[in-house]
Amino acid sequence: MTQITSRYADPMPKMHVVVWAAAVALSGCKAEPATQRAAVQALMTSRVQPAAQIVWSSTGAASELEGGKVVNREWRPRSDAEWNAVRDASRDLQELGAVLRQSRYARNRGPDWSEFALGLSAAGKRVETSVAARDADALFMDSGYSLFVACMECHEAYAIEPGDQE
Ligand code: HEC
Repeated sequence: MTQITSRYADPMPKMHVVVWAAAVALSGCKAEPATQRAAVQALMTSRVQPAAQIVWSSTGAASELEGGKVVNREWRPRSDAEWNAVRDASRDLQELGAVLRQSRYARNRGPDWSEFALGLSAAGKRVETSVAARDADALFMDSGYSLFVACMECHEAYAIEPGDQE
């Protein structure tokens, strides 16, 4: 059993890796045409979630019990190739914010939809800035967190908690 813990004093980030991955996996949504719903779901599943996952899993820490001994592990991008993978994902997220503003996804939504989509692009840009600075702490605590917030803001407005529907 792996426990995700933090190398930081603040207890809040302990849950980031776990919570971000789990919390975005909402299902259900407000009434909208089935084709539009399917299009959003497909985009989320095939592109938005995988790109975010690359960002979120690129940094972290774990504390494991191995043969009665606590083994602490931390990870962060080290090679250029590893940093570049996060940079590419951050660029995908910026583009996906623009894609979400296309009428295929945005029609019949409130004006806040475009704001949330712009927020996704902005968060992707912040991640790219952390990568350019090779700042793993900022990636973990700051831009990675703002990415999580960008997802949640839109989901809170447009996706319904499991159990609310169906
Ligand atoms: C502009 C709005 C918006 C943003 C930003 C957004 N999402 Fe979504 N997402 C939705 C909506 C709406 C749904 C619900 C689709 C449905 O089931 O009808 C959804 C559903 C999902 C789902 C479930 C897909 C399924 O198969 O039901 C995942 C996973 C997801 N989003 C991941 C993410 C992640 C990760 C981010 C941030 C990196 C993100 N989303 C940002 C609007 C958004």
